[in-house]
Amino acid sequence: MSEVTATDSPVPGAAARSVDVWKVYGSGEAQVSALRGVSIELERGAFTAIMGPSGSGKSTLMHCLAGLDTVTKGEVAIGDTKLTGLSDRALTNLRRDKVGFVFQQFNLLPTLTAQENILLPLSIAGRKPDRDWYNTVIDTVGLRDRLKHRPSQLSGGQQQRVACARALVSRPEVIFADEPTGNLDSRSGAEVLGFLRHSSRDFGQTIVMVTHDPNAASYADRVVFLSDGQIVDELRNPTPEAVLDKLKSLEVPSDEASEALAVDDVEEAADPAAEPAAVAEPAGASDRTENA
Ligand SMILES: Nc1ncnc2c1ncn2[C@@H]1O[C@H](COP(=O)(O)OP(=O)(O)OP(=O)(O)O)[C@@H](O)[C@H]1O
Ligand SMILES: [Mg+2]
Repeated sequence: MSEVTATDSPVPGAAARSVDVWKVYGSGEAQVSALRGVSIELERGAFTAIMGPSGSGKSTLMHCLAGLDTVTKGEVAIGDTKLTGLSDRALTNLRRDKVGFVFQQFNLLPTLTAQENILLPLSIAGRKPDRDWYNTVIDTVGLRDRLKHRPSQLSGGQQQRVACARALVSRPEVIFADEPTGNLDSRSGAEVLGFLRHSSRDFGQTIVMVTHDPNAASYADRVVFLSDGQIVDELRNPTPEAVLDKLKSLEVPSDEASEALAVDDVEEAADPAAEPAAVAEPAGASDRTENA
């Protein structure tokens, strides 16, 4: 597998970038290198999807780029600001002012109305919303008649649109979305994806989205593929079919591995005689997995 560096043509004024970023969790035998030298530039105004097998480092990359997690080695910048070496306080302010988040679980505050949720980051920052922009965002996400509702009174798709509006209303440098359609049916998912694409095309909003869904990725301008902590490929102007083809070529080995693992687990669980051995020799289980 050839390593592709996604910084072949540096973009002046990238919205965010990483340079040779490594992220190592734990130490000794438990050590995991979740990112192994990732360099990426997120062009301003572009909608980028990050894909790859489970455990390939997608969320880790997003967290490092967003300043939610520190890197072990390498450099991350949002706009012109390098994150490495910033104090905790400066980092908190940077996240508050320059970054928007959309999560799979919506993460809305249940006691606040839709409108209060949308305006919360601005109120925390002591900033006044730009009225025109606020109205544009509300109309774009189609929430005008739901602003007084609490999250429990909204459908999943509507809640996620509230979360998108909340991310967009402060006009952050970058919006990071980790599987934003993971909990939505296909119609609500398509609405959210359409809205994200519209935000990037028409408002110049930079968006990075992690997804497992080739159809969701096809809304993006560019798809970056991670495998085992490295960028291994990318697609511009992706179609669902092209994304699926790339994924197949990446995921076969890990699927086979996880299938073999699942079979081992099931067999062990189903066979009571295997249980004491599994307890007595936990190392045996991992030996078998490695040999599978
Ligand atoms: N806090 C942590 N401590 C130890 N290891 C971690 C931690 N977070 C992630 N990892 C490991 O780092 C690797 C990458 O994890 P990450 O969550 O980035 O994967 P992912 O691509 O987002 O996967 P998924 O598609 O399942 O969400 C995995 O091997 C994971 O077990
Ligand atoms: Mg993840």
